[in-house]
Formats: sequence, structure tokens, C-alpha cells
Amino acid sequence: MTSDTVILEARDLQKRFGAVVAAQDINVKVASGEKLSLIGANGAGKTTFMNMVTGYLKPDSGAILLEGGDVTKLNPRQITQRGVCRSFQIPQLYEPMTALENVMVAIGASGRRFSFFQPADLNETVEQARAMLKRFALDPYAHRPVSELPGGVRKLLDIAMALVRNPKILLLDEPTSGVSVDEKFPLMETVMEALAAEAVTVIFVEHDMDIVTRYSDRVLAFYQGQVIADDDPSEVLSDPAVQKYVTGTAGPATAPAGAEKEAEA
Ligand SMILES: Nc1ncnc2c1ncn2[C@@H]1O[C@H](COP(=O)(O)OP(=O)(O)O)[C@@H](O)[C@H]1O
Ligand SMILES: [Mg+2]
Repeated sequence: MTSDTVILEARDLQKRFGAVVAAQDINVKVASGEKLSLIGANGAGKTTFMNMVTGYLKPDSGAILLEGGDVTKLNPRQITQRGVCRSFQIPQLYEPMTALENVMVAIGASGRRFSFFQPADLNETVEQARAMLKRFALDPYAHRPVSELPGGVRKLLDIAMALVRNPKILLLDEPTSGVSVDEKFPLMETVMEALAAEAVTVIFVEHDMDIVTRYSDRVLAFYQGQVIADDDPSEVLSDPAVQKYVTGTAGPATAPAGAEKEAEA
């Protein structure tokens, strides 16, 4: 990877919560356009990594570089403005509003529509929101309140809302969690298709190794805050440490203390 293709770099990241090591010696360079998945048991540090990249958490030490510039001290809003957007494990939606209205709010919040409530701008915002819904095959849900929508649709809507800013890097925290097995592949297919034209760099957390293999070209495996493997999916999934601590395919994993704890920052 040449330095001009590196869009994101995490340099020596360290983060502790009391006695818990949530990030240790994390060194990662991500190339522009890469599709990177993060795997690891609950509590391994995947969300902490995403939170540090997006400015929601500050590392105790180390640095985050975006296109070579240090963004470690910037707040989430400033980092978003530089082209790093995210979706959350639990979709952050405006429940009583329709799917279309949710996307309109996201467009309004992105600040590109200066006078959101002026009729001319409003029409343009509606057009833009409709186009985004169509891109994610969500047009049939446009006028439904989001509180009525099924899990997979809510996930897609959350991702569509993150995309209205045309990010360079999109981070998806467990895009397929809470979605039925049958819906997972179609959901990822829709997301990746919606992103294909843009060459967006995608970093996603995923527990289903079939999805990891199909939709990422590189995998980072986390264990107790450390990256224990970083390579293409077939290499990482055949790594004995990954099989022991992550996928459990090497027999019962000896889980670290507190690793079973559901952790979502
Ligand atoms: N805000 C926080 N306060 C205290 N402990 C936290 C916080 N966020 C995460 N942790 C702890 O850090 C570890 C890593 O958590 P997390 O990054 O959420 O893991 P993952 O996303 O891989 O499940 C866990 O032990 C978790 O309990
Ligand atoms: Mg998490």
C-alpha cells in the first residue's frame, strides 16, 4: 500500500476503561476503497476501535490519521465533516417520522441544504431523499413511520442516512445484527451495491463468517483489545489463534474474563 492510497491510519492506539484493556497497540493502515471487516467476541474492542476512528472516544495515546492528517483531537462532528460517517449497532432513527422524512432530516443535518425549510430547497431535499431510498430499495417504505418497519429495513435506512453526506469512509457497526439469517445476505448485497459506484472505503463489524468472507477483502480479528490477525479472509479464518479466540472452530474457546459481557458504547 503506497502512502497516497492510505486513507486511514491508526497508530499505536491504546485505550483502557479501568482495568479493562479496550485497545492495545493498534496499528492499522486502510487503503482507499478497501472493504474491511472487524471480527471478535463481544468485548474484544471492535466498537471501541470504531468510536476512536469517529471521534466518539479519545484514545489514551496514539493517533488517528485521515488522508495523512491527524484527526485525533477532533470531535465527531468535525470528523464527519471530513468524510467519515457511521451507522450504529442499534439504528438511530426518528421513530414517529416516515422513512422519507428520516432521510430528509439527515440531509438537513448534513448542512448542505442551507435553508431546509424554503420551498425550493424542500423540493430538492425530497428529490434527494427519494433517490437515496431508491438506491437502497427502500422506496416501498417511504411513507411508513419507521417504528413500524422490520429490523432489516431499519438497518438499511440507518445506513442510507449515513450515506447522504457522500462519505469517503463508512463504518457500519454490526449491520446485520438482529436481522434474520435469511435477510442477512440480501441486506449486505443491497448495501454493497449501493456503495459500489462510489468507491467508498467500508469498515464493518460482522459475526457471520460467511458474510465476512463474501463481502470483505480484508479482516481484522480483535481479542482483548488487540488485533491478533490482519489479512485476507481465508488467511484470517484459518489462523489458529482466530479459531481459538474468535470463531470457536478450534473447540471451546477459553474466553477472557468479562468477554461475554454485551458491550455497546
Ligand atoms: N464506555 C465504556 N466504559 C467502560 N467500559 C467500556 C466502555 N466501552 C467499552 N468498554 C469495555 O471495553 C471492552 C471493549 O468493548 P467494545 O469495544 O464495545 O467491544 P466489542 O464492540 O468488540 O463487543 C469491553 O470490555 C467493554 O466492556
Ligand atoms: Mg460492539
